[in-house]
Amino acid sequence: MLDVDDAGLVLGVVGTGVMGRGIAQLAAQAGITVRLFDSRPLAAEEARASVGATFDALTTKGRMSAEAARAAMARLHVVAQESALAGCHGVVEAIVEDLRVKRELFTRLEGIVGPECLLATNTSSLSVTAIAATCERPGRVGGFHFFNPVPLMKVVEVIEGARTEPWVGEALVALAKRLGHRPVRAADTPGFIVNHAGRGFGTEALRILQEGVASFDEVDRILRESAGFRMGPFELLDLTGLDVSHPVMESVYEQFYQEPRFRPSYVLRQRLAAGLLGRKSGRGFYSYEEGRQRPVPAPRGPEGERRPVWVAADEPAWRDALVSIVRAAGWFPDGGARPSPESLCLVAPLGRDATTTALALEVDPERTVAVDLLFGPERRRTAMTTPVTRPGFRDSALSLLSADGTAVSRIHDSSGFVSQRVLATVVNIGCDIAQQRIASPEDIDAAVTLGLGYPRGPLAWGDALGPRRLSKVLEAIHAASGDPRYRASPWLSRRARLGVSLLTPES
Ligand code: NAI
Repeated sequence: MLDVDDAGLVLGVVGTGVMGRGIAQLAAQAGITVRLFDSRPLAAEEARASVGATFDALTTKGRMSAEAARAAMARLHVVAQESALAGCHGVVEAIVEDLRVKRELFTRLEGIVGPECLLATNTSSLSVTAIAATCERPGRVGGFHFFNPVPLMKVVEVIEGARTEPWVGEALVALAKRLGHRPVRAADTPGFIVNHAGRGFGTEALRILQEGVASFDEVDRILRESAGFRMGPFELLDLTGLDVSHPVMESVYEQFYQEPRFRPSYVLRQRLAAGLLGRKSGRGFYSYEEGRQRPVPAPRGPEGERRPVWVAADEPAWRDALVSIVRAAGWFPDGGARPSPESLCLVAPLGRDATTTALALEVDPERTVAVDLLFGPERRRTAMTTPVTRPGFRDSALSLLSADGTAVSRIHDSSGFVSQRVLATVVNIGCDIAQQRIASPEDIDAAVTLGLGYPRGPLAWGDALGPRRLSKVLEAIHAASGDPRYRASPWLSRRARLGVSLLTPES
């Protein structure tokens, strides 16, 4: 068995591209002897030199002592033949993402390394079970999935295939900790945790764009400034490149036998065909000049007429927030049980669109504007009109909502606005990962915050926004659209009804 704390630990790294060299760097820094092998001549030497340059940079910045850098470099050994991996305690492969090639490598390695040697794959999209299947001892094979750039992305997924022996998972968890990374354990399923949990953000944003609810830049603004994502989904698609993102979306969708939650969008396929790949091609959703995104100016808010404002909300706190906005702007709240004939009807629904809300309240849809308050009234506000809202009433609402200097986005009618839709989707997928026992609730949240950079993990985020609310959002969208992509995960709906945290594991 692998003793990860062994001072004399020797790790083989096969494939020394962007991932392999990152893994080798971490291992060398952690005091582990590394043997680097790559089938392309000179690739391993180049990788070693590039790690050396990284150490130099760290030393210059004072983040690493010259002595530590020298010692770490002395632990990195380039080997010219696979046979030189004999005697390694473990081998991590980061070669080309091809099932046949990875299987052949592992079969050859079994003839070289000792019977106790652990074999790990850094695959991001292949099944660990399938890679191990042609091995003589598939029990020694596990997944060890790092993210790019390896030293900065402090999380690694530890994956057990159908036949992986328990010691392998334990050893990889211990190794991850020695490398300074947070291990998260995942069952061998498509996308593991991070690439599975990450499906919601982009696909729902694309759906919103496809439905003509809002422009791509408005969706980005809302999700950055209201929900608090570091980047909007379209900025992220441009950064990753559509040539990478779209095939991943299609692959996860197909691997889950066309699960509607992951349904990709023709919008991406078409843009990909047009060569609008994103940053790398100079134009994606945004345009880029010398690598910098050309800003899309936010539309200027109109000057609307003052009117009395009648308010209704699905949550009492939201009603109070809207009334405060009306009072703070010096406008007059219409406190009648029914709106007076000249009042603007401001509503704050949960999950429903403006039209359904107006009709349910029996107020005039021509005077109705809906406001999204899921993230509170302090951040960017989203105002949504019915198809028949009169421009004068729309402009009044936009003026009122921006009177205190808060930015306002205007969108077309949509069940769940933008933020409610995207957040409910992200939380729902996170919940279903827990429901399918792919990973523990804590590991799901750790994987998503560290691997995707979301401000919170989906389960903690769901708790903060309220499981009951998110469950209601999904139910309303599901009812309105009939689309099974919006069906709530039992993990979410049960905990919402029980009034307990989404992080509550099964007893
Ligand atoms: P890369 O193309 O930068 O490097 C792959 C290296 O493997 C090349 O140097 C190549 O010469 C070498 N190689 C190919 N076949 C080989 C073989 N049979 N034996 C020895 N060396 C061989 O690729 P990258 O991006 O480092 O990816 C490697 C693996 O890591 C893939 O499985 C990929 O899916 C996975 N991965 C990649 C991530 C990324 O963001 N690039 C993130 C997470 C996982």
